[in-house]
Amino acid sequence: AAAEKDGYPSFMEKEIHDQPSAVGDTLLGRLDENGSLTLDEIKIDESVLRSIDKIVVIACGTAAYAGQVARYAIEHWCRIPTEVELAHEFRYRDPIVNEKTLVVAVSQSGETMDTLMAVRHAQEQGAKVVAICNTNGSTIPREADAVLYTHAGPEIAVASTKAFLAQITAAYLLGLYLAQLRGNKYKDEIATLLAELEAMPAKIQRVLDEVEPQVKALASSMEDAGSVLFLGRHVGFPVAMEGALKLKEIAYIHAEGFAAGELKHGPIALIDQGQPVIVIVPSPRGRDSLHAKVVSNIQEIRARGAETIVIAEEGDEAVREFANHVFYVPQSPTLLQPLLATVPLQIFACELAGAKGYDVDQPRNLAKSVTVE
Ligand code: G6P
Repeated sequence: AAAEKDGYPSFMEKEIHDQPSAVGDTLLGRLDENGSLTLDEIKIDESVLRSIDKIVVIACGTAAYAGQVARYAIEHWCRIPTEVELAHEFRYRDPIVNEKTLVVAVSQSGETMDTLMAVRHAQEQGAKVVAICNTNGSTIPREADAVLYTHAGPEIAVASTKAFLAQITAAYLLGLYLAQLRGNKYKDEIATLLAELEAMPAKIQRVLDEVEPQVKALASSMEDAGSVLFLGRHVGFPVAMEGALKLKEIAYIHAEGFAAGELKHGPIALIDQGQPVIVIVPSPRGRDSLHAKVVSNIQEIRARGAETIVIAEEGDEAVREFANHVFYVPQSPTLLQPLLATVPLQIFACELAGAKGYDVDQPRNLAKSVTVE
């Protein structure tokens, strides 16, 4: 078993380190040298794909957070209304789905019963289903109309890490493919994004090489934390929720991810002296002044005594003034930041759980794949 872990103390730590190749392998063979995409595996008639007027992403757990990240990108590039819903909620609310709906089912295992039931329900209503899955020949891809495999390799640790990054990558490829197929005004942006995607494995590796030791040092000093809050905005919001989920799953610490803009509408009441808050800061180079808004959130919680732990982009000096700790990740387009910003959160949870003496690969009460409804 030690050999299977490549010398790491746990599968989770190994899988965190597999992420550059999980993303790289998921891109492999899908981009040509002109920067255009070929997804031969999407065996759904192009005319059907052109007529789609709604996309619904269904998934559970970490896969659902990958879907939430993907929604920002898919809606932006494709201009197709996109919903993301937990599979078990979707299935039982009589959702409006028809032949013009494309359902994207995201599942690492391909065996999650809640997701499978939602797939079947959508197909009964006439929807086409594309599965994004990490396990060859599992049930969800077998029943789907098409499958886009993530090539993360087997994921053993119960808490999902590399599958999450690979799911975001695959969902982005699907979004870019639909945008390409339907022809659209973001042509230049799409070409740039494909090139940027190819640069991600090396950037993820830099996070592992440079940021991991700093995150571990902080995490191992936080064994006594009673609760940790996570804040993010835009694609940083699902990243915040995923960071909180990791901490709940393996460190058994109460954690919650909030949309940073929602802070003033409630969560700020939770802030008192010493409350740790991890904030994912958007790129200062991005549009819509999201950066300034999140920096002012950090200022507000710091003024109320929070211990602020900030994930920001290299070169972002503005966050330093209000941060107790800053972890810098390489620069990237805003939509790709989740592939970098998630990594310190995974390391944080893994290290904290380890410091508390827990088995990070086999957390209590959880299963890798939940095959009952
Ligand atoms: C379980 C696992 C989670 C996972 C979720 C969805 O709850 O513990 O880590 O995210 O199922 O699994 P799937 O295989 O469908 O991605």
